[in-house]
Amino acid sequence: MARTFQEIVAARLSRRGFLAAGAATVALGLSRTARADATSEDGTAPGPFTPFPGDAGPTLRLAEGHRYHTVLAWGDPLLPDAPSFDPRAHDVAAQSRQMGYNADFVGYLPLPRGAPGLAHGLLCVSSEYTSPELMWPDEPRTARTLTRERCDVDMAAHGLNVAEIRRDVDGRWQLVARSGRNRRVSAFTPIRMAGPAAGHPWLRTSADASGRIVQGTFANCSGGLTPWGTWLQAEENFESYFAADGAPADALLEDELRRARVAARSAFGWERHHARFRVADEPHEIFRHGWLVEIDPYDPAGVPVKRTALGRFSHEAASIVVAPDGRVVVYSGDDAEHEHVYKFVSEGRYDPANRAAARDLLDRGTLYVARLDDGRGTWLPLVFGEGPLGPQRGFRSQAEVLIRARQAATLLGATPMDRPEDVEALPGTGRVVAAFTKNTKRSARAIDAANPRGPNPHGHLLEWVEDGDDPTSLAFTWDLLLLAGPATEGGTADGDAVLSCPDNLAFDRHGALWVTTDGQAKALCIHDGVYRVPLDGPGRGRPERFLSAVPGAEVCGPCFTPDDRTLFVAIQHPGEGSTFDAPSTRFPHEMDDKLPPRPCVIAIEREDGKPVSG
Ligand code: FEO
Ligand code: CA
Ligand code: CA
Ligand code: CA
Repeated sequence: MARTFQEIVAARLSRRGFLAAGAATVALGLSRTARADATSEDGTAPGPFTPFPGDAGPTLRLAEGHRYHTVLAWGDPLLPDAPSFDPRAHDVAAQSRQMGYNADFVGYLPLPRGAPGLAHGLLCVSSEYTSPELMWPDEPRTARTLTRERCDVDMAAHGLNVAEIRRDVDGRWQLVARSGRNRRVSAFTPIRMAGPAAGHPWLRTSADASGRIVQGTFANCSGGLTPWGTWLQAEENFESYFAADGAPADALLEDELRRARVAARSAFGWERHHARFRVADEPHEIFRHGWLVEIDPYDPAGVPVKRTALGRFSHEAASIVVAPDGRVVVYSGDDAEHEHVYKFVSEGRYDPANRAAARDLLDRGTLYVARLDDGRGTWLPLVFGEGPLGPQRGFRSQAEVLIRARQAATLLGATPMDRPEDVEALPGTGRVVAAFTKNTKRSARAIDAANPRGPNPHGHLLEWVEDGDDPTSLAFTWDLLLLAGPATEGGTADGDAVLSCPDNLAFDRHGALWVTTDGQAKALCIHDGVYRVPLDGPGRGRPERFLSAVPGAEVCGPCFTPDDRTLFVAIQHPGEGSTFDAPSTRFPHEMDDKLPPRPCVIAIEREDGKPVSG
């Protein structure tokens, strides 16, 4: 008989802490020892700040003793010939040279490469999508009224941003405007396909008979940095850019449109001016999106590469770690209801002394998908010819397995999860935390040990430890770290500690987890925020609110500088739900009634100059 939610959670919580007691906690031993020294008499290690209750006020709020400043905002001039931001005069030429919209991923790379980078670096920021009603004075538009000019500004406002930043004499991070190191990549930038699927007939279009050069990247949610100093950026909700109306009757395409949930019309209307977004006209374009894109921020002229060996699905992010034997492991969640968690294990080994050899490291290896049983997990290989992944189930090559990774994962028996967001690996360990943001489509009859609530309006966090503390292991032990939401709805942390809809994750140098949220306004009637979540000790799994954002915004990033003195976070879509002419916030320019709200990256620091992580 199927177990109830209460039975599943009670069984899990009775085992709570067994992971924390395991071998993985020896990681970061020095800093843990230092923190143990600060443990108080009741056994609780004090956190680095005093948490505060949920907030729905007009201004951004931080834990006491912290301050922030804006580093990079939509429209800031990046390229050498970029004009300054003018909120009433956007055009394609300007937007192609300025910071894009809706900042999501934030990564920091030291300058020069290999230096400590405590005061000079490259900020890598994605621009996931646009909010036209906040960009333009006279929106909302419909696809029917979308002009070519606005469509192309929109496409130029998507993509990637590389920005040189420095600490000024006051210690504030400043954009080096118009630096030759700055870069924009948009929905127009040529991108190379590499790995087993490059050149496959399904990737060929009328504009690219080779199937190897794609125009642009978009839906760029979060990402990750590699140990060799490149940036791996996810392509997430690619399906919402395509219009399925009139698509030809073709079994492959019908399966793709159904699994990716492509609607008759796109969310942005680009198909009105660009045939490649009309599936009926260009049926293969959709297969050229939904990958992980690698870009070298230290090389402003380098061509970005879509790494097909890592599979095609709605990648939320990427977390990259080096295993004890030198192989590279990339974790990535597929953010859609009932989709899966994947990891890629490289064939080759990473040599820190040979950066050039890492250039194509992500083109050869094995992609796995996770099956989670009660407390244990298995990594199932997506390998052509193994198990069901052969011609009898419609796969003729490894390329086809990777292009249709979701269908392959289902055939293997992967566990359908509650919208996997960030999957963050703690370097030097086999320890991983995965965020599942929510799943209102899970029915009470379809719950399981790893997705114990149906429907799940608040999401949850799972922690797992790979066998032998080795990220290349094919089995792991897992535990429930947090069921989000209030106790009345099954949440495991209540009162001031309640959070909902976890999304992006980062570890600080002590191994504490930092979590951002996306959806608390609807779920809890408070703004989205940033939380610290200890993995060890009596506070394990209990969120500590550090930041409360502004109306309409979700919070992304988060990213620490190497010394943890700065925490960068992205304030995405401030003012969402309102308009340019009547915005619910003008963040980060609340005092200026001429400016619309601007998605941006802020730098948070302690007033006493000590590390934010304590
Ligand atoms: Fe773009 Fe899954 O958040
Ligand atoms: Ca996200
Ligand atoms: Ca992350
Ligand atoms: Ca999200």
